[in-house]
Amino acid sequence: MRKFLIAGNWKMNKTAAEAASLAKEIALGAGQQHGVDVLICPPFTALAAAARAVESSTIKVGAQNMHPETAGAFTGDISAEMLREHYVTFVLVGHSERRSLFKEDDAFINQKVLSALKNRLRPVLCVGETLEERESGETAAVVERQIREGLAGVDKDQADPVVIAYEPVWAIGTGKTATPEQAQEVHASIRKWLGDLWGDAAARKTRILYGGSMKPANAGELLGQPDIDGGLIGGASLEARSFNQMVETALETKK
Ligand code: 13P
Repeated sequence: MRKFLIAGNWKMNKTAAEAASLAKEIALGAGQQHGVDVLICPPFTALAAAARAVESSTIKVGAQNMHPETAGAFTGDISAEMLREHYVTFVLVGHSERRSLFKEDDAFINQKVLSALKNRLRPVLCVGETLEERESGETAAVVERQIREGLAGVDKDQADPVVIAYEPVWAIGTGKTATPEQAQEVHASIRKWLGDLWGDAAARKTRILYGGSMKPANAGELLGQPDIDGGLIGGASLEARSFNQMVETALETKK
C-alpha cells in the first residue's frame, strides 16, 4: 500500500550541464516505469536543467532546502515559489548537514515543513541520531523529538504529502550502513510516533525512507524490511548505473 520512493540527494555536486546529463541517463533507465517513485534532488543552480532533462519521464525533481518565507531580505536563500517555477515537487527539510553545518534547529525546520505544505511542496523531513547519541542510548529520544518538533502543527489531514527520511548521522558518507535490523527498529518507532500524532491509518500510509551509505549491494535487504519504504541516497545517486540499479531492486522487492 506504500509505493517505494527512491530519492537521490546530489548535495553540492554537478553543474547544470552535468546534472542534465545524469538526469537524462536516470530517465532513460528508470523514467518510464510507474511501480516505484523516483526523485532526484540536484543543487538549486541545476534544477531547471534537470527538470528539462526528465520532462517526458516519470522522474520527479526535488530541492535540497528552502526558506520558509515566500520573499524578502534573506540573502542567499530560495523560496517555495521559486522552486515550483522549476517543476520542483519535493523538498528535503532538516538534512543532518543543514542541522550540523548550518545550525538549523527543530523550530526552524518545522517552519519549513509548514511552509512547504502551504506552498504545495512535499516535504521530506530528515531525522537521525549522531554516533555519540546512539552510543549513549539516546537514539529513540532524539529521533522522537525531531519528529514531534519537526511536524508540530501538521494535522492529520495534511499528512498525505509528508515523507520522513531516517538517516543515522554516523552512516552518512561513512560507508557504515545501519544493519537492516537497526534501521527497521527505528523505522517502526517512527511509525508509532506518527500514529500518536495522526492516528494509525495516516501513519500506515506515510513513507519512511532510509538514508546513509545505501548502495546497490545493501539496498535489497534494507528495502525488504517491513517499515522501510525507500531510500534517500547520497554518493551512490551520483552515477546513473548504481542509482537505477536501486530503482530496479525496489521494483523487484515485494513486501
Ligand atoms: P550517503 O548515501 O552518501 O551516505 O548520503 C546519505 C545522505 O545524506 C542522503 O541524504
